[in-house]
Amino acid sequence: MVKLPLLQRYRALVDLPEHTKLVSLHEGDTPLIPLPRLATELGDGFELFAKFDGLNPTGSFKDRGMTAAVSEALGRGAKALICASTGNTAASAAAYAARAGLRAIVLIPEGKVATGKLAGAVAYGAQVLQIAGSFDKALELVVEISERHPIALVNSLNSYRLEGQKTSAFEIIEELGRAPDWLCLPVGNAGNITAYWMGFRQYHQLHSSGLPRLLGVQAAGAAPLVLGHSVEQPETVATAIRIGKPARGEQALEAAQESGGRIIACSDDEILAMQRRLAAEGVWVEPASAAGLAGLAKEISGGDVDVKGMTVVAVCTGHGLKDPNIISDSMPSPIKIEANYSSLENRLFDYK
Ligand code: F0G
Repeated sequence: MVKLPLLQRYRALVDLPEHTKLVSLHEGDTPLIPLPRLATELGDGFELFAKFDGLNPTGSFKDRGMTAAVSEALGRGAKALICASTGNTAASAAAYAARAGLRAIVLIPEGKVATGKLAGAVAYGAQVLQIAGSFDKALELVVEISERHPIALVNSLNSYRLEGQKTSAFEIIEELGRAPDWLCLPVGNAGNITAYWMGFRQYHQLHSSGLPRLLGVQAAGAAPLVLGHSVEQPETVATAIRIGKPARGEQALEAAQESGGRIIACSDDEILAMQRRLAAEGVWVEPASAAGLAGLAKEISGGDVDVKGMTVVAVCTGHGLKDPNIISDSMPSPIKIEANYSSLENRLFDYK
């Protein structure tokens, strides 16, 4: 049976204007993958799942929101889209613009966008411009140009992005039969955590599905919501969340607080260790996408969160293939052997 596009499947729950003209790449419907070994390592008697949103069409969760933002923009007659991006939004905007036959312009921080993301934006035909500045400055610039010219802004300041992104909460509830006890996820510009909270609250109002506590996780070098002030020069290996002035920071803090959860920070080492640990269970995500679980590990080991008997979902926002250099730069070259059977057997079984 052909599956319906995300926005049609959740038509009754997603608030989009009449003029919306659907642009879809069959996003969403991503798997909730059990992580039993990691759960046993981290704590006692709890269930842990990865919502692997890196399995969306362009390799990140951004596609959920982009289908909505681009469908709305196309319907109202937009001819061009623009966004600032640490990479994933750029690739997603470029793909949906291509699908819709619209021009896409993306503004990125120079030298800080992972290879797979930049290649994606180029492959889908976006006009890519870079600035010697951070994502925060790029966002400021695209907001201004979209106010002065007829170019649709598709960053998560665009509320339709959140309408699309909240559908992940619906999928999680439908698969588990209720909301999880904790949801942990990375936080950058803070649109996603805001969207999840919208989604969980909406579903709970309709179906009493319960509400999770939210554990938002920033990188220590880009943690404005933990520090309580913006960060002028954010720095982290998790370039997706290298953001010092999150556009939806206030809402994210409110969501975390209202849920009974919090926003914390993890070091780059903790994030990279969790990236490796997840890959060891068959789930390869980009560094930022391991932040939610790194935060969970930290909270459990520090005694700040007791997960016994609970169900925890970690949102893995982007695929490992987005940022291959993180792995390949520190990778030993594959061992060379002679092209014959005995070399292979000797190598594998250590025969002399
Ligand atoms: N994870 C990944 C893989 C991301 O690309 C982002 C954001 C986040 C988490 C954080 O989500 O911003 O809603 O809090 N990437 C944006 C981009 C900023 O331009 O691709 P958020």
